[in-house]
Amino acid sequence: MESKLIQFQVFYEIAMTIGNSLDLHKMLRSALVAYLRKLSCASGVIMKLTVPEPGRAGFVPELSIPRTAVDQPALKKVIDGLPNSLSPEGVDRFKDTLPLCTHPDKGTCVYIMDLQGFGLLILAKGGDDFDMTTLHSLVQLNKKLAGACVACQQKKRIELINDKLSREIDVRRRTENKLVQLAGELELRVAKRTQTLNALNEELLKKIEEIEAKEASLKESEERYRSLMQATPDPVVVYDGKGRVLFVNPAFTRVFGWRFEEISGRRLDFVPEDRMDEAVGLRRRVLNEGVCVGIESRRLTKEGNVLDVSISGATYQGPSDALPGVIVNLRDITEIKQTQDMMIQAEKMVSLGGLAAGMAHEINNPLAGILQSVQVIENRLKGDLPVNRKTAEACGVSFESMTEYMERRGIFKLSSHICKSGRQAAQIVDDMLSFSRKESSSHKLSDVNQIIDAALMMASHDYDLKKSYDFSRIKVFKFYDTALPKIPCIPNQIQQVVFNLLKNAAQAMSKDRDAKETPTIQLATFSGEGGVCIDISDNGPGMNDHVRQRLFEPFFTTKGVGEGTGLGLSVSYFIITDRHRGKMGVSSAPGKGTRFSIKLPIFRPD
Ligand SMILES: Nc1ncnc2c1ncn2[C@@H]1O[C@H](COP(=O)(O)OP(=O)(O)OP(=O)(O)O)[C@@H](O)[C@H]1O
Ligand SMILES: [Mg+2]
Repeated sequence: MESKLIQFQVFYEIAMTIGNSLDLHKMLRSALVAYLRKLSCASGVIMKLTVPEPGRAGFVPELSIPRTAVDQPALKKVIDGLPNSLSPEGVDRFKDTLPLCTHPDKGTCVYIMDLQGFGLLILAKGGDDFDMTTLHSLVQLNKKLAGACVACQQKKRIELINDKLSREIDVRRRTENKLVQLAGELELRVAKRTQTLNALNEELLKKIEEIEAKEASLKESEERYRSLMQATPDPVVVYDGKGRVLFVNPAFTRVFGWRFEEISGRRLDFVPEDRMDEAVGLRRRVLNEGVCVGIESRRLTKEGNVLDVSISGATYQGPSDALPGVIVNLRDITEIKQTQDMMIQAEKMVSLGGLAAGMAHEINNPLAGILQSVQVIENRLKGDLPVNRKTAEACGVSFESMTEYMERRGIFKLSSHICKSGRQAAQIVDDMLSFSRKESSSHKLSDVNQIIDAALMMASHDYDLKKSYDFSRIKVFKFYDTALPKIPCIPNQIQQVVFNLLKNAAQAMSKDRDAKETPTIQLATFSGEGGVCIDISDNGPGMNDHVRQRLFEPFFTTKGVGEGTGLGLSVSYFIITDRHRGKMGVSSAPGKGTRFSIKLPIFRPD
């Protein structure tokens, strides 16, 4: 009965303990105290099952009452006898031996019970044995205690986890708050930025549209400008601010000979020496005034030919701070100039030619009188005629002493001088008369190449020419068109023209003492539009504008007295243009040689 009571009391107390606290230590202490008190035990120990390493288990004291209980010899013996490093199966096998009552020494009784899932309960009592019935009845209670212990441990673990979790949750919440705050700020900033970007975008789109429109109009204008440049028949050069070539159009290449690749980025060296100052002045004028129109000048082609050009120029502003560039239009007016020159020439020739012819007629009669009279004088002084002898004797002088006197006094030399000069004058008068002479009947179909060859032969044998210049020193190149058609002409006159030109070239080159090149004459014939062309060019000193403009005038000469009459070219011009209805022109510049061009019609115009 008493054992039942004790059992209830222990039950009650332990139940209270378990119910009061889930603090493991407190609960174990209260339970152990209740056990000791109700079972009248001196000491007790609760051992906890631990797992120091995976697969190994052992028991270690968790609570002892009194505290020194574990050191009591009897209990120590029991505790030391407990397994402390067993496999889980070993632990199970050991637990199967429980509950266990043992007497480690004579006066002590030790009872070991299983605290399932937690460890062991060891109670020690002095003297008597335990009431085994009571103890056995406590097995269920122990199970509850063990369960409570495990619950406590789990609770502790849960608390720890909870604690950790709540800390983590706290950190997360704070982080979340921060994130929310940051997200808010970010959203705000993104919104602001988006607004700014949208505005910028709109502005950019507008600008792009503007640029695209400008580009399109620029492209169109460039296209227009390019087509204009390609199509314009006038040569055009575009210079940059430093005077280097940026562009030339096809007409420039056609007229001057340079392709763009040859002169791109370089200065164009095509101003004749005598036009240098003028070119510098022209450039200055364009830069100052921004534009200039129709300035007549001359420029050289790649091959060195001189062209008459009408220059118009305008400035343009290149890249912002660079010097302004210049666009130049160089209209080739060589042919116009030549035609103008020819017309002026023709007019001059009409008046001067008429004048010369008139003068020649006037001079012709007295000259004939002079020449005839001199011949008569010579006849009467020199001729051993009866009438001469008779008249001398009648005057009291012998014919011999009279001729001797004349001889000694040089009268015969003087008279032969008069004769020679008279004949020269007669030749000049004859030349002058060619301006008015009509010799239409002597035209005949002739080979121009043969005529030129005959003139060349004549020049190489000409005595006067030899005197001043050795014609054989001149290199003569012939570029004849062998398929040239025969043309109606007066061969002697054409020969005379060619001879005059050859003679002029030879004389000019003989004067050109500084010439470094071998004196050369080029003779070319070719078929032109409706006619046959003859080009005679030399590499002599050339001539300046003044000479070039006047050289077809009768009596215009740069040669000294006795060297030239100035009739050669005027007569030649007359022969070509009047007698043969052809054309005659010249192109020349100082230091660049001279080229005479003749064109004779294939059909005889009446
Ligand atoms: N090939 C040439 N090179 C340089 N100058 C020339 C050439 N041909 C002609 N001239 C110039 O033209 C001028 C006129 O020539 P033109 O033949 O009419 O007369 P000229 O030769 O002086 O005299 P003439 O022929 O009557 O003996 C010459 O004096 C000379 O100055
Ligand atoms: Mg001459």
